[in-house]
Amino acid sequence: MKVIEWHSDRLRIVDQTRLPREETYLELNDHHHVAAAIKEMRIRGAPAIGVAAAYGIALGGLRIEAESPGQFRQLLKEVVSEITATRPTAINLSTAASRMEQAAVGRDVAAVRQSLVEEAVKIHRESYQADDSLSQRGTALLGEGATVLTHCNTGPLATAGYGTALGVIMRAQRQGKKINVLVTETRPLCQGARLTTWELKEAGVPFKLITDSMAGHFMSKGQVDAVITGADRIAANGDTANKIGTYSLAVLAKENGVPFYVAAPTTTIDPETATGEDIPIEERSPEEVTHLGEAAIAPEGTEVLNPAFDVTPHRYITAIITEKGIIREPYGEGIGNI
Ligand code: MRU
Repeated sequence: MKVIEWHSDRLRIVDQTRLPREETYLELNDHHHVAAAIKEMRIRGAPAIGVAAAYGIALGGLRIEAESPGQFRQLLKEVVSEITATRPTAINLSTAASRMEQAAVGRDVAAVRQSLVEEAVKIHRESYQADDSLSQRGTALLGEGATVLTHCNTGPLATAGYGTALGVIMRAQRQGKKINVLVTETRPLCQGARLTTWELKEAGVPFKLITDSMAGHFMSKGQVDAVITGADRIAANGDTANKIGTYSLAVLAKENGVPFYVAAPTTTIDPETATGEDIPIEERSPEEVTHLGEAAIAPEGTEVLNPAFDVTPHRYITAIITEKGIIREPYGEGIGNI
């Protein structure tokens, strides 16, 4: 399955809100469609939304009517701000957007449009290469026959590449390590139950699905050898924002002596954000909590809090696996050198 595909004047994505029930594809013809698809999480996962943002800006560029490259760049700003406003936590999105803005150069408007398309394709290719390399490095941390707990979805669907945390797991399995996976359902939108299970099943990796609240039970029984998650933004000191519930898993892991690993490409590291406290946390709609799919599970009018991410302080993280190397404490130094 192609998670995201560029077709010279449009973008084709698999609609992740419909998985695993249906494999439906969407054709996105302009940057407004791409922005809506990111916001509605039809495409999601930090690296994948970085790639989608880049193609979205390229699409926006194809439709800009301008007399000169200077005027084109001026009009491109609106496209960029619409795309970057969609989801605030994942840094991959704004990094991809600034790269696209910088790539908007050329001797005439046609050349600028061409540069934008080329840059988007490059961002996509680099995302794939980063996954490939980080997943190889990460396998060294997983022992033969290990049971690994993972949260949310970090496979090819989330990266438009090979996957980060799930990439490490799938690669270790391919090396013959006989890995078992515990998949947390990941309320409210159930990316674990809907998407990670689906990807593991396709890859032939044995797994069991658990509810989020079961994780501590299995860790305390000694039934988890490692926890591995992805990241949406890693601050300069190693504090990491990831799907809501990650912080609780990290604290439980420390309490139970289980290593807690974060797997992410270096595009997820944000040296401009000093600590986790400075990471903006996306707040999403109440319906995601009051409903399971279409079905209401709470009385009408129930008030809701729905932060999509939380921050795990670096002291709970055993190591951060990137394509350039495995970083450990002191994270400030390791991140600075990468
Ligand atoms: O809200 P989502 O589904 O986009 O959140 C995804 C996650 O939190 C992932 O763990 C993270 O983006 C890393 S994806 C390789």
